[in-house]
Amino acid sequence: MGKTSVLLVGFLFSFLVAMVQAGDKYKKYNDPSLPINKRIGDLMRRMSLDEKIGQMVQIDRKVATPEVMRDYKIGSILSGGGSVPHLQATPQEWLNMVNGFQNGSLSTRLGIPMIYGIDAVHGHNNVYKATIFPHNIGLGATRDPELVKRIGSATAREVRATGINYVFAPCIAVCRDPRWGRCFESYSEDPDIVKEMTEIINGLQGEIPKNSRKGVPYVGGREKVVACAKHFVGDGGTTRGINENNTVIDKHGLLSIHMPGYNAAVIKGVGTVMVSYSSWNGVKMHANHDLVTNFLKGSLRFRGFVISDWQAIDRMTYPVHANYTYSVLTSIQAGLDMIMVPYNYTEFIDTLTGLVKNKFIPMSRIDDAVRRILRVKFQLGLFENPLSDESFIDQLGHQAHRDLAREAVRKSLVLLKNGENADEPMLPLPKKSSKILVAGSHADDLGNQCGGWTINWQGGSGNNLTSGTTILKGIAEAVDPSTEIVYEENPEFDYVKSNNFSYGIVVVGEPPYAETNGDNLNLTIPLQGQYTLYNVCANIKCVVVLISGRPLVIMPHLEQVDALVAAWLPGTEGQGVADVLFGDYGFSGKLPRTWFKTAEQLPMNVGDLNYDPLYPFGYGLTTQPLNATS
Ligand SMILES: *[C@@H]1O[C@H](CO)[C@@H](O)[C@H](O)[C@H]1NC(C)=O
Ligand SMILES: *[C@@H]1O[C@H](CO)[C@@H](O)[C@H](O)[C@H]1NC(C)=O
Ligand SMILES: *[C@@H]1O[C@H](CO)[C@@H](O)[C@H](O)[C@H]1NC(C)=O
Ligand SMILES: *[C@@H]1O[C@H](CO)[C@@H](O)[C@H](O)[C@H]1NC(C)=O
Ligand SMILES: *[C@@H]1O[C@H](CO)[C@@H](O)[C@H](O)[C@H]1NC(C)=O
Ligand SMILES: *[C@@H]1O[C@H](CO)[C@@H](O)[C@H](O)[C@H]1NC(C)=O
Ligand SMILES: *[C@@H]1O[C@H](CO)[C@@H](O)[C@H](O)[C@H]1NC(C)=O
Repeated sequence: MGKTSVLLVGFLFSFLVAMVQAGDKYKKYNDPSLPINKRIGDLMRRMSLDEKIGQMVQIDRKVATPEVMRDYKIGSILSGGGSVPHLQATPQEWLNMVNGFQNGSLSTRLGIPMIYGIDAVHGHNNVYKATIFPHNIGLGATRDPELVKRIGSATAREVRATGINYVFAPCIAVCRDPRWGRCFESYSEDPDIVKEMTEIINGLQGEIPKNSRKGVPYVGGREKVVACAKHFVGDGGTTRGINENNTVIDKHGLLSIHMPGYNAAVIKGVGTVMVSYSSWNGVKMHANHDLVTNFLKGSLRFRGFVISDWQAIDRMTYPVHANYTYSVLTSIQAGLDMIMVPYNYTEFIDTLTGLVKNKFIPMSRIDDAVRRILRVKFQLGLFENPLSDESFIDQLGHQAHRDLAREAVRKSLVLLKNGENADEPMLPLPKKSSKILVAGSHADDLGNQCGGWTINWQGGSGNNLTSGTTILKGIAEAVDPSTEIVYEENPEFDYVKSNNFSYGIVVVGEPPYAETNGDNLNLTIPLQGQYTLYNVCANIKCVVVLISGRPLVIMPHLEQVDALVAAWLPGTEGQGVADVLFGDYGFSGKLPRTWFKTAEQLPMNVGDLNYDPLYPFGYGLTTQPLNATS
């Protein structure tokens, strides 16, 4: 070849490279004018095995860096309970962190953006100064799906304030045994109420357009987030309420009690479903091909992605890691699409890659998983807007959301007793009294009134946990300025007797807890709370406000108590309790659960043959609001 030909070939070659590079910039999958299925197809054709497997991996932010995102082509990050950039991080700091990780993902060959998930289960609860709404059991007491939808919208905006676009909510467990440590995450023991409350999905994701194909995930705009119906399925039906245990029930029972919420969620276009740690009749749900693939993806026609629970693959065998390969194989074959690893991603990636290369898992299964993950990402608009902007920063803890939470608290309160008879009601309380006593471990404790899943996974006690209004502060705001309020957390018997109080308000209940730490076979009020209740109520007229994630043993105390209010886990807006105690609003909440007489009766649910409750499901006295002018 002569010099000119060499030059010519060289020129042609660089020209070709340039053409390919230019063509690369106009990747079909990046064209928002194309239908999503076309974009998915185009992107799938370009992806290598390691790029596909990367999409199936979700890691915790503790092990994430932009370089890890890039080098391992990780598809998703999460903040586990309490996994925050630092205590009291601002929305701006959150957003910068998320965008930093996203930049790592965008710098990969195909630039597929990652999706960031977090447990926002009663508001954006990991985040300092976010609005904390009542836990689900309280929302169940409101019987108000429209309110719950508004809470979904508000939560989505607060989550967007921190640059996050995916929440592991709602929990649509049907808790059939209050001894379960997650019972407060369940709206009700009644499947119909749980089904109605899936309305929160319309708030979180936006309302699915009419005539959408059933099962196709939907997210309607930048102020919305992807939701996650959890935990599929039967999590609330385990033996004696033991967390992550075995749900023994026939197929009809499973489908009629635990499944209706999933059908409703899929119809509403829920983007993702999380699988339960628990087993059904001895088979781990993470290994249940019949329910995950045949039923959820087949019969219910769910087209979003199925995600594992935290480290659930590791927990599939005992002892842990006895045979990790087998656990990965079984769960992926069962139909799981994304695995919340969350730490040892290299181990997971290597294991899954080996299983595919050795043909234990067919490529079609991997393709199904990745297609589903990409579908949610395209739906979310992630390819168009991968980086978060600051337009929602002011939404975190916004006053409008706090007002909404306060409204939810008012509507969630269930009045169980009001004086000895209907002619002598104790509530509403007079705003004008000479001197009143406020007592109890939960009267002036923001952490206690929020419960688990608040700032930390397990929650925490105290008033510096986050910002909000304690019940005591709410009472102080509500009464007439002439009323003297004495606050004593644990007053002695003689002190109460000798102080001429007009009446007492006792606020006691359960300490914060989450998951297995909340499993409890006795369901009694902690002893100090029982003493306080007795010391006050044996001496003066008293209202007891119970702060708990479930009904507790109250029958032995009932005689001393003049009025009894179940306030569940109200969250940061304690003013809502005072609003109703002092008659600015009436009581309207209805029991979302059966209130048992003794723990020995459990499990006991509405409709049972030997139904003998203290207060039946649906019970709740009402009061009229006082006329503001009288
Ligand atoms: C991410 O990358 C964009 C574009 O390159 C840049 O403007 C931005 O500062 C980066 N953000 C972070 C948090 O690294
Ligand atoms: C259920 O709990 C019991 C008692 O803790 C335990 O021995 C058993 O392995 C658990 N079963 C499942 C399926 O988790
Ligand atoms: C893991 O379990 C599978 C299925 O039971 C078995 O074939 C395999 O040999 C096991 N591997 C190890 C390392 O024990
Ligand atoms: C991750 O898993 C691999 C393979 O099982 C193991 O060698 C390694 O120690 C694990 N790393 C961590 C941090 O647990
Ligand atoms: C809140 O107070 C507790 C004990 O007084 C302390 O241990 C904790 O660090 C404080 N938390 C914050 C966020 O200031
Ligand atoms: C007790 O309070 C009432 C008003 O609630 C008042 O009339 C009475 O004088 C007080 N008695 C004492 C001993 O302070
Ligand atoms: C009730 O159970 C809880 C949780 O197991 C335990 O902490 C508490 O001490 C028990 N209370 C009584 C009175 O046994």
